[in-house]
Amino acid sequence: MALRSRIVGTGRGIPPRRLTNADLEKMVDTSDAWITERTGIRERRVLDPSLATSDLATEAALAACKAAGVEPSTVDCIIVGTVTGDVPFPATATYVQRKMGAAAGGAAFDVSAACAGFLYGLSVADGFIVRGQFKRVMVIGVEILSRIIDWTDRNTCVLFGDGAGAALLTAEPEGMRGVLSTHLFADGTFTDLLHQPCGGTRAPLTPELIAARQQYVKMNGREVFKHAVRNMAAASKTALDTNGLTSTDVNWVFAHQANLRIIEGVAERVGISLDRFFLNIERYGNTSSASLPIALDEAVEGGKLKAGDILLLTALGGGLAWASAAVRW
Ligand SMILES: CC(C)(COP(=O)(O)OP(=O)(O)OC[C@H]1O[C@@H](n2cnc3c(N)ncnc32)[C@H](O)[C@@H]1OP(=O)(O)O)[C@@H](O)C(=O)NCCC(=O)NCCS
Repeated sequence: MALRSRIVGTGRGIPPRRLTNADLEKMVDTSDAWITERTGIRERRVLDPSLATSDLATEAALAACKAAGVEPSTVDCIIVGTVTGDVPFPATATYVQRKMGAAAGGAAFDVSAACAGFLYGLSVADGFIVRGQFKRVMVIGVEILSRIIDWTDRNTCVLFGDGAGAALLTAEPEGMRGVLSTHLFADGTFTDLLHQPCGGTRAPLTPELIAARQQYVKMNGREVFKHAVRNMAAASKTALDTNGLTSTDVNWVFAHQANLRIIEGVAERVGISLDRFFLNIERYGNTSSASLPIALDEAVEGGKLKAGDILLLTALGGGLAWASAAVRW
């Protein structure tokens, strides 16, 4: 029997510590007015230094299991989208597997696609389920960006935040509900628009590089902005066309929460009014791969999604890597 993957539970891990725009005014030459007008962000969360990425990811994953009524020990595959793992290796997913008590001997690995990490993970999970390789796949988007941000660089430090979100997918007989399609894209021409230049094999960290603050995120914001609007809109249209849908069929759009103005640009290009976009950017800033699953979980919790609703998801980030998905809830 043909199988379809369906999201049966969502969860999130949100660090309690808030960092407001007013707090940032005391750290760099910026203002609440500038940040709010240019980005829509009012505050973001910062994880306690005693905790690591897998701790927050595990919180989200356990919440997703609970929401689904599924025993963590029966989850046979864990995919973590992150660029801020606990350690360079092994995969953060292996720590999550142990901490959440998932099935030892199942699969656990990370996906590196920056802000598109959750949708890349969702696409891999969907493929596994459709061909019957795994039955219960936990897809997590998690970032502790506060650890790789230059807190003296106003061009980047005002934008990002920490967080985790998770979605549990199970195999269902092919029916109306579930993941309808996923589309993944990348263009390595633009690797240098948004990256962490040093600390890998190309430029291992040295005292000189650390003094030059090359271990931190560097970004050409203006260029990334243009690509984000154009590519998320195009990927969204591809998702709709593939499924014979039009913009009027979409109940909710989950677009990567990077900048409210980017989301407004996508809304205009795809022809879907902004009130059908789920927004939480003002409370969390850009949490990269965690942005979409956190938004999804908040929408579920708020009772916004009805069975049969058409959801459109899209994200773009470093790589550049971008993606879209269509889901019948
Ligand atoms: C970063 C971003 C908010 C900047 O907004 P913008 O409208 O493009 O602003 P600009 O880059 O044109 O900068 C305008 C001015 O504000 C200044 N500025 C930058 N950051 C600032 C801050 N935090 N506070 C105050 N001023 C700031 C710049 O130095 C520049 O000054 P100048 O004109 O004297 O050189 C916007 O480009 C953006 O969101 N890009 C996408 C970033 C992103 O989402 N990346 C991740 C994608 S996954």
